[in-house]
Amino acid sequence: MKKLLYITCNSKPEYMSTSKIVGREFVNRFLAANPDHYLEELDLYKEDVPEINHKIFTGRAEPVSGEKYDALTESEKRQVEKIISLCDQFLSADTYVIAAPMWSLSFPSRLKRYIDCIIINNKTIKVSPEEVKGLLNDKERNMVYIQSSGGDYPMILSWKFNHGINYIKDIFKFLGISRFEKILVEGVDKLSIGKNEAIAKAFKDIDVVIDKLSGKVLV
Ligand SMILES: Cc1cc2nc3c(=O)[nH]c(=O)nc-3n(C[C@H](O)[C@H](O)[C@H](O)COP(=O)(O)O)c2cc1C
Repeated sequence: MKKLLYITCNSKPEYMSTSKIVGREFVNRFLAANPDHYLEELDLYKEDVPEINHKIFTGRAEPVSGEKYDALTESEKRQVEKIISLCDQFLSADTYVIAAPMWSLSFPSRLKRYIDCIIINNKTIKVSPEEVKGLLNDKERNMVYIQSSGGDYPMILSWKFNHGINYIKDIFKFLGISRFEKILVEGVDKLSIGKNEAIAKAFKDIDVVIDKLSGKVLV
């Protein structure tokens, strides 16, 4: 079986959060269309995602080990173990769905904190004196980013404002995930659009993205 890792980044309960409502609908429809996948969920507001610091993380991207690990407090050791287990969980998945709101033209800092945890030497990247290489091209992996935003950003302006999407696309491409799709839930806080219309439009985009991922639509 393949794994769909569904990552949410929002303190709101699902019924209040536009990104989570669309994320849940996507996951349900994706699993119905892809019965070879099972679901694992990661809520970045419930999970303890360590903040990287020099005592637990050394060099370019190495959780400490050996004597340095032995010298850590019990709580620091737990943080190191957590970082490694978050990375291993990420590595074991085939399809990733991240649902997050746009915050200050990007995404909530917890998502960045998570990304810093999963970029580890000899797991997701290979660091050498010459270069840093992504290792996630070992199998077919798909990334779907679902972003809700208060405003709407027409295509011509999107590159200027959608820093979160651009970053997520770039960092996971660098790591080796070649397939990236996005679903936008735009204009949630605008009088002329609003939550219901934004969700309805995003729901229409879900099947298009699922068809693209399953190769039914050429991209
Ligand atoms: C801290 C914060 C920053 C925000 N920054 C932006 C922003 O830069 N651009 C925007 O369009 N909306 C912004 N919003 C509005 C949210 O993106 C919008 O309400 C979104 O739909 C929330 O998604 P949710 O219902 O899943 O929480 C911001 C909201 C918060 C709380």
